[in-house]
Amino acid sequence: MSKPEVCPFQTGFGAAIINLDLSQPLTAESFKIWEDAFEKHGVVVLRGQNFTDAQHVEFSKWFGKLEDFPDPKDQASGLPTVLRVSNVERDSNRIKPIDDAGHKSFWLGTSDWHTDSSYRPILSKASLLFSREIPKAGGDTMFAHTGLAFDALPAAKKAEIEHLVVVHDFEETRRRNNLPSRPEAIRKANPPVRQPLVRRLADGRRALLLGSHIAYVEGMDYEKSKALIAELTEFATRPAFTYRHKWRLGDLVMWDNRCTMHRAMEYDMQNERRVLHRTTVAGDAPLLV
Ligand SMILES: [Fe+2]
Repeated sequence: MSKPEVCPFQTGFGAAIINLDLSQPLTAESFKIWEDAFEKHGVVVLRGQNFTDAQHVEFSKWFGKLEDFPDPKDQASGLPTVLRVSNVERDSNRIKPIDDAGHKSFWLGTSDWHTDSSYRPILSKASLLFSREIPKAGGDTMFAHTGLAFDALPAAKKAEIEHLVVVHDFEETRRRNNLPSRPEAIRKANPPVRQPLVRRLADGRRALLLGSHIAYVEGMDYEKSKALIAELTEFATRPAFTYRHKWRLGDLVMWDNRCTMHRAMEYDMQNERRVLHRTTVAGDAPLLV
């Protein structure tokens, strides 16, 4: 196979890679092409793939250490680093009941704009999502580039928000939607964390750090805090800063969690199966100490 090629999207960010088969061993040269595309474009799409979960993990590890997902029912192929993103129950292979609290909270959390793992002390660097079963219609994933959005904010707004600290809490989605909270032991293992509202990237660029796990802006009146986050989210998700991915079977999409956020779009989840497997590349250190 000839060398992989990068084809930037017309949307302002994101790119497709062609001429690459990840069921075959990756060369250092192909990895470099991918890594450069990832750093430059924020979202990278490779279509027409057919690889195993173990190969998914192997490829992901080129980018760094992977995050673990400790609950076995979330894991694919018994691999703690492969998260099932699905409306299908792993053991029974049946579609989950629509009113199941865990699934409901998962869907409400992921169908809202979010940044993967923003509720963890160390934010993740990247996510790699592979489609194994997709619905006939819907279930797209939308991405918003929060770096481009930050750059486009008026200078006064940038100055106003630059040093704000935001508390992210995994329980927030449940609270907001009146769902029961998770067992105390799990809650204690994932306490709320503080994150900057504006993060500085390694190359000096800045990006908004937003998403559904946000509980409040520290030191700000709750209603004011809610309004500010809503305002920034509305701005960052305007068409100029978004890309909508329509899944085909065998798509691998990798995105940069440092400068994008994303959401899943609706589909008929009572009747249609949607099974995607995700690995997540861990970040290096907490952003705030
Ligand atoms: Fe996500």
